[in-house]
Amino acid sequence: MTQKGLEEVVAAETRLSDVDGVNGRLWYVGYDVHDLATSSTFEEVVYLLHTLRLPTEAELDELSDRLVAEREVSPFLAGMMPTLAQQTSPMSMLRTGVSAASAYDPDGWEDTPEANERKAMRLIAKTPTLIALYHRMRTDQEAVPPNPKLPHAANFLYMLSGEEPDQEDAVALDTTLILYADHTMNASTFTARVIASTLADMFSAITGAIAALKGPLHGGANEESMKMLEEVGDPSNAERYVKDKLARRERIMGFGHRVYKTEDPRATHLRRLSQELGERKGDPRWFEISAEIERVVASEKGLHPNVDFYAASVYRHLGIPTDLMTPVFALARMPGWTAHVREQYADNRLIRPESEYVGPRDQVYVPIAQRG
Ligand code: ACO
Repeated sequence: MTQKGLEEVVAAETRLSDVDGVNGRLWYVGYDVHDLATSSTFEEVVYLLHTLRLPTEAELDELSDRLVAEREVSPFLAGMMPTLAQQTSPMSMLRTGVSAASAYDPDGWEDTPEANERKAMRLIAKTPTLIALYHRMRTDQEAVPPNPKLPHAANFLYMLSGEEPDQEDAVALDTTLILYADHTMNASTFTARVIASTLADMFSAITGAIAALKGPLHGGANEESMKMLEEVGDPSNAERYVKDKLARRERIMGFGHRVYKTEDPRATHLRRLSQELGERKGDPRWFEISAEIERVVASEKGLHPNVDFYAASVYRHLGIPTDLMTPVFALARMPGWTAHVREQYADNRLIRPESEYVGPRDQVYVPIAQRG
C-alpha cells in the first residue's frame, strides 16, 4: 500500500536528532533543544552534530577558529556573484553557489571521512558569506569581508549590513540558527541522504538539499509567513484574513507540521524572541499580528505554528530581507545536512523505495502513422 508522502516511514537510523511529535519535544544527540537554545551557541551545536558530543572549551575554540579561517569564498565564486546577484533569486544563487563551491575545494573529489568532514566545515563557514555577498552586490553596496573577531551569527549580520550587530541581536540570530540546525528526516535532509546514498559527493547532496528546502511547504514557509504578516498589516485584520483564506481552502503558511501534533518546541523560543525584539525595537506590530493570526488559526483549524512562523518576524527585526529568510534557514541547517550526509556514508545502503503502479496495463502499441 502506498504511504503517501512517506508519512511515518522510517527511512534511516540516526544519532543526530529525535522528535516526539505528541509531546512537542526535540533533541540533538540526546540534548533537549530548549537547553541548547538557551545555553549553547551555534558553533557548539555544529561541534555536537559532527562529533556527537559537546566540546570542551579548547575543542570549541579550535572549531570556531577553523570556521573563521574558511569563511572567504574562492575568487571563482566571487567572480560568479555579480551575474547571480543580477539574474537569480537568493535560493537559486545558493543552490548554484554551493554546487560551484566544489570547483576549488581543496579536497577535490577526495571522499574519505576526513575529507568529508573538512568539506562540511567549509560549507558551514562559507554559506553566510555567499548570502551576504549576493545581497551586497544586488543592492550595489561594497562587499563586507568576514570579521574574524565575530562569531558565526554576528559575522553574518555584519557582512550583510556592514555594521557590527549589538549583542542582543547577535544572540537572537544565534538562537534561531541553533533551532534550525537539524530536524530528523525532513524533506531536505531526506533529499541529501538519498543523494549521498548513491555515493555522490557532499556538494551534490547539499545542492539537492537546498533545492528541496526552497519550496513553500518546507523552508520557503518563513518567507511566505512574512509576506502574510505584511498583507495582514494590522492585528485587527487577522481574523478576516485567516477566515477568508481558509474558506478558499488555502494554507496558512507557517502552520501545521507532519510530525508535531502540539506546539513545535522551536516555535516557543521564536515566539519569545519575536516579542522581545518587537519590544526592544519599539515595533511590537509584527508580534501582535502574529499572535492574532496564531489565535485565529488555532480556533478555526486547531493548527499550531511551526518553526517558520515566528522566525519571520524575528528575522524582520534583525534586518534580514524577506527573500533571504529561507537562505538563512539553509545556513542554519548546513551542520544538520552535512552531518546526515556523513552519517549516511558511514553506514550506507542505496535508498530506493518502491512505487505502486496505478496506470493502464497491457496497452497495444500503435505505430505513430496510424494514431488518430
Ligand atoms: N493551513 C491550512 N490547512 C492546513 C495547513 C495549513 N498550514 N496545514 C495542514 N492543513 C490541513 C490540510 O488542508 C489538511 O486538511 P484536510 O484533511 O481537510 O484536507 C490537513 O491539515 C492535513 O494536511 P496535510 O497536507 O496532509 O499534512 P502534511 O503532514 O502533509 O503537511 C505541511 C505538513 C506541509 C507542513 C502542512 O502543514 C503545510 O502545508 N503547512 C504550511 C506550510 C509550512 O508552514 N511549511 C513549513 C513546515 S516546517 C518546515 O518545513 C521547516
